[in-house]
Amino acid sequence: MKKIIIGNWKLNLDHLQGIQLLQKINYSLPKDVEENIDIVLAPSHTSLRSLQTVISTDKLKIKLSSQDVSMYKEGAYTGEVSSTQLEKLDISYSIIGHSERRTLLNENDEIINQKLKRLLEQRITPIFCFGEPIENRENNTYLEFIQEQLNEGLKGIRKDNMNEIIFAYEPIWAIGTGQVATIENIIEVLDFTKNLISSKSFYNQEKSRFIYGGSVSPDNSEEILNLNIVDGALVGGASLDSDKFVKIVNSIKL
Ligand code: PGA
Repeated sequence: MKKIIIGNWKLNLDHLQGIQLLQKINYSLPKDVEENIDIVLAPSHTSLRSLQTVISTDKLKIKLSSQDVSMYKEGAYTGEVSSTQLEKLDISYSIIGHSERRTLLNENDEIINQKLKRLLEQRITPIFCFGEPIENRENNTYLEFIQEQLNEGLKGIRKDNMNEIIFAYEPIWAIGTGQVATIENIIEVLDFTKNLISSKSFYNQEKSRFIYGGSVSPDNSEEILNLNIVDGALVGGASLDSDKFVKIVNSIKL
């Protein structure tokens, strides 16, 4: 499976700073990297258009993701951005279900399920985030917690509208904390997730990737990204630094 590295810029950088970082990353990436690794950047909505223009004008091989999408198709939903609008901008991916939105903005599994459906309708690849809070890790109920998130989030997905989905395991206690999950943690949860997903009727082996996110840095990426079961990483903090981001990409052994 081709690996993927996604940089989640979160609420950082205006569009001019975004263009600068995109160009720096592009310049430092190995030539023809895209033949072996998918490189994706997720800036704020306001930067998508200008970054997409640079990517298409300069024929860069980096793809863009939005950080979120509306659960609604169109209408009186002030402030929302729809999957149709993203598709028109040629945006290839969208993050949904990030724990920061689940916890700080009260997004539940039902909302995330609607967002997933909107993306699949537009053939935009969802980056579906899931993962447990520290309490469930400590009282050993994290697998039940994850099972519920996946079952609810994936309700009603049909084989015929299934395009690629990227499943991103992001334990909440590892996000932005510097406390990366252990290799055993990652293998256990991704293995569990893969088994659960592969039992679903829509499952197609070629259309699902399983990645890890949470304090990924050049110090731990080699160990994590070269595991067979890990198809890539969702990188937050380290993706704002082109050297660190490119080091993470380069730690994948081809
Ligand atoms: P982090 O963020 O790499 O800063 O921990 C990961 C994420 O939120 O996707």
